[in-house]
Amino acid sequence: MNDILTELEKRRDTARLGGGQKRIDAQHERGKLTARERIDLLLDENSFEEFDMYVEHRCTDFGMEDKKIPGDGVVTGWGTINGRVVYVFAKDFTVFGGSLSKTHAEKIMKIQDMALRNRAPIIGLFDAGGARIQEGVDALGGYGEVFQRNVLSSGVIPQISVIMGPCAGGDVYSPAMTDFIFMVEDTSYMFVTGPEVVKTVTNEEVTSEELGGASIHTTKSSIADKGYKNDVEAMLQMRRLMDFLPSNNQSDVPVLPTSDGAERLEASLDSLIPENPNQPYDIRELITKVVDERDFFEIQEKFAANIVVGFARIEGQTVGVVANQPMVLAGVLDSDASRKAARFVRFCDCFNIPLVTFVDVPGFLPGTDQEYGGLIKHGAKLLFAFAEATVPKVTVITRKAYGGAYDVMSSKHIRGDVNYAWPTAEIAVMGAKGAVEIIHRKDAGDPCKIAELTKSYEDRFCSPFVAAERGYIDEVILPRNTRKRISRALNMLKNKKIENPWKKHDNIPL
Ligand code: HXC
Repeated sequence: MNDILTELEKRRDTARLGGGQKRIDAQHERGKLTARERIDLLLDENSFEEFDMYVEHRCTDFGMEDKKIPGDGVVTGWGTINGRVVYVFAKDFTVFGGSLSKTHAEKIMKIQDMALRNRAPIIGLFDAGGARIQEGVDALGGYGEVFQRNVLSSGVIPQISVIMGPCAGGDVYSPAMTDFIFMVEDTSYMFVTGPEVVKTVTNEEVTSEELGGASIHTTKSSIADKGYKNDVEAMLQMRRLMDFLPSNNQSDVPVLPTSDGAERLEASLDSLIPENPNQPYDIRELITKVVDERDFFEIQEKFAANIVVGFARIEGQTVGVVANQPMVLAGVLDSDASRKAARFVRFCDCFNIPLVTFVDVPGFLPGTDQEYGGLIKHGAKLLFAFAEATVPKVTVITRKAYGGAYDVMSSKHIRGDVNYAWPTAEIAVMGAKGAVEIIHRKDAGDPCKIAELTKSYEDRFCSPFVAAERGYIDEVILPRNTRKRISRALNMLKNKKIENPWKKHDNIPL
């Protein structure tokens, strides 16, 4: 018996060493942790249950039959994060560069199937060189089957990808179909084809970082939702994120105990809006002052910063916050902001996370750049997302809510449940000056007349009361009471149940 136990330990030790100490050292020299070190940081202590540690590839081409390493380049299993079950797979770069073989794919699929069957989130840690070149079509097939599972799980369980090293070729499309992608700065990159292929095909010279580093994907392409300084920070932030998310589309959102009183008043909010309507203020100040313990997990903060989205809690319960940001482009809605927010709203709706929307929007951004870039279709995405959402929707208009953007931003007309406005709200078709210049064009040469007409337009329309008189705004609230009012509204909406008409799926303007 002792011999058997010794043999088991020996096999385990060999498997745990992956591609060997030399390659582990090389991994560390590059500032990266190994797959198992990452998992240890991600999961609760001693909670990891590994599967398929002894799996080896079955390739016999290119002398591969003599090169077998147990685990075959990916570490898979399940564990807990703050006591809640998650499934995890982590590419092991020390084994064939983490490349995907048929058996490697089978290990991932097993975990994907279990996560879906048991309705728990799945987290993938990527650090790999794409398809195992020696395996050819078997590797391609393996990817296809992983992709299929990503799609079936979409909207049922949260799927999270963290890019922690190279991520190229087939490896990029699985993350692309998950809910969120996070990256580690300077050590990770993501592209379909690398710099060498780019040079051959387009003659363009570009580094890996310039082509697909975190600095690009969190700002320009919007592929990644956030970058972290190193592996440790990335893993700890994933633990924080998971605390905001429900386990599946039928489970309740997690509730975290909080000492932050639901009725807390925030007097400083009464002076948040500057006297001058064209002066910006930071919407994050409002968000952090309203939510529990100022804890806000922002998504895509470096992309389309004219809209702010992220997770927070009110009375311990997760909410999705969507807010125009007056500090950037006056909070205007453009194509990027619309796409960013639409995807976030749809994630929240998939997973029963109530939406809290703060509105200060001067409209959609005009210009050929935007129109040629499909502003109509992209703006429609956000409109569609808010309109189809059946989760509780609480909206607060702080200042401007002009034109179509008023409708889009979770207004009463697209099933906003509780719509509040601050006394400083201006709900109108457009700003007073623009409106007067159009309806009183004949007086354009008379600045005094125009000023007088502008003032009277402002008095009549640039306030919350025209909308409130019609019931489009449920109440005009004091800024200091915002947390209290939102919290009460969310409590009132706890048992909300509405269903959209049966359909196979909708046809959101992609
Ligand atoms: C097999 C691979 C591999 C791969 C790396 N290795 N990529 N083995 N298949 N795809 C092995 C290397 O041979 C090496 O083995 C070890 O991993 C580390 O690789 P290095 O090149 O030494 O590391 P580094 O210099 O850091 O470069 C990392 C890399 C590079 C940028 C990822 O290895 C690379 O370009 N690999 C190929 C990428 C690629 O073209 N993949 C196929 C994409 S096509 P030893 O034994 O020396 O440690 C694809 C199509 C799928 O994925 C489409 C599905 C939709």
